[in-house]
Amino acid sequence: MENMSESNFESYPPFFRPPIASLEEGFFDLEKPTKQTLDLPVIDLECIDHDRLSEACKDWGVFRLVNHGIPVTLLNQLHDHAKKLFFLSFESKQALFTNPIAYFWGTPALTPSGGVALQKGPQPQHVNWMEGFNVLLRELSHLQYDDPLLDSFGLLLEEYGRHQSRVATRIFEAMAENLNMCLKQSGSYLSPATGLARVYRYPCCPEPNRAWGMDTHTDSSVISILNQDKVGGLQFLKDDKWIDVQPIPNTLVINLGDIMQAMSDDKYKSVKHRVKVNKHEARISIGYFVFPAEDFVIRSSKYKPFTNADFRAQTQQDLRTVGFKVGLDRFKLT
Ligand code: OGA
Ligand code: NI
Repeated sequence: MENMSESNFESYPPFFRPPIASLEEGFFDLEKPTKQTLDLPVIDLECIDHDRLSEACKDWGVFRLVNHGIPVTLLNQLHDHAKKLFFLSFESKQALFTNPIAYFWGTPALTPSGGVALQKGPQPQHVNWMEGFNVLLRELSHLQYDDPLLDSFGLLLEEYGRHQSRVATRIFEAMAENLNMCLKQSGSYLSPATGLARVYRYPCCPEPNRAWGMDTHTDSSVISILNQDKVGGLQFLKDDKWIDVQPIPNTLVINLGDIMQAMSDDKYKSVKHRVKVNKHEARISIGYFVFPAEDFVIRSSKYKPFTNADFRAQTQQDLRTVGFKVGLDRFKLT
């Protein structure tokens, strides 16, 4: 069995093994912790309170979801499998995973999409302190791995994907109703066939003020759904303050992405968020991202018409040329 202790550095990408001299000295300030009284709004999927949902989408762009109907055993098994797979040596992870489950580390293009350009040799100061598996959910059913652990991981992800698509569809329909969007088109606004999962591990970082687990960003999706373990570190920006999302077992965190913001004419917001790393414990989280049908044209009063494919192409171009995602500003009507 693999060595599952926190100090099994064989499993870390070499860049993350101590000593971490290649990072700049404390290149950002961690604000002093403030006593936090705010927590995310809570939405109950079994009985959606439309007013509360609408407020959460306008004021926060993120909320916690309870009664989501995903069996807790599925969530636990998925985390257990992920943990075991991450503990394989770095070299085995690189060798073992191929599409539709691809291994990456460092900074992925922050626009989840099929076949994303994942940077394999990032610049030190831009490295996100994490590694992960990028999973194209619709291709999982064709999956055949020789490795039993990987095989059952694939099956669990497939089942998880079905639940995520159910949850995302239900939430989207409620949002579309609140926004008076044309529900007949809801299958184009939100296409579960585009769904992808990212399973992350944020390794322990001996000097947590010298790296971000994931630097500040917005998601490019319509909706993103996160399931995090007990470690914590996820933060969302609310009224210019960073709010810690306390891990609460068996709940999901749903945030809105750029495309939802555009579809809502900026009424709803694509919220900024980031992940802190810590010294003592690695953190695992599983994200699900869903987009509109690839060639569906998103029309709004604030942005030029664009498709998901346009948005992704622009983001990839920006990552190559300016080094970061410019996002919706590229499409803003002036
Ligand atoms: C993301 C993201 C947060 C987390 O993948 O876009 O924000 O907790 N992940 O892993
Ligand atoms: Ni994100």
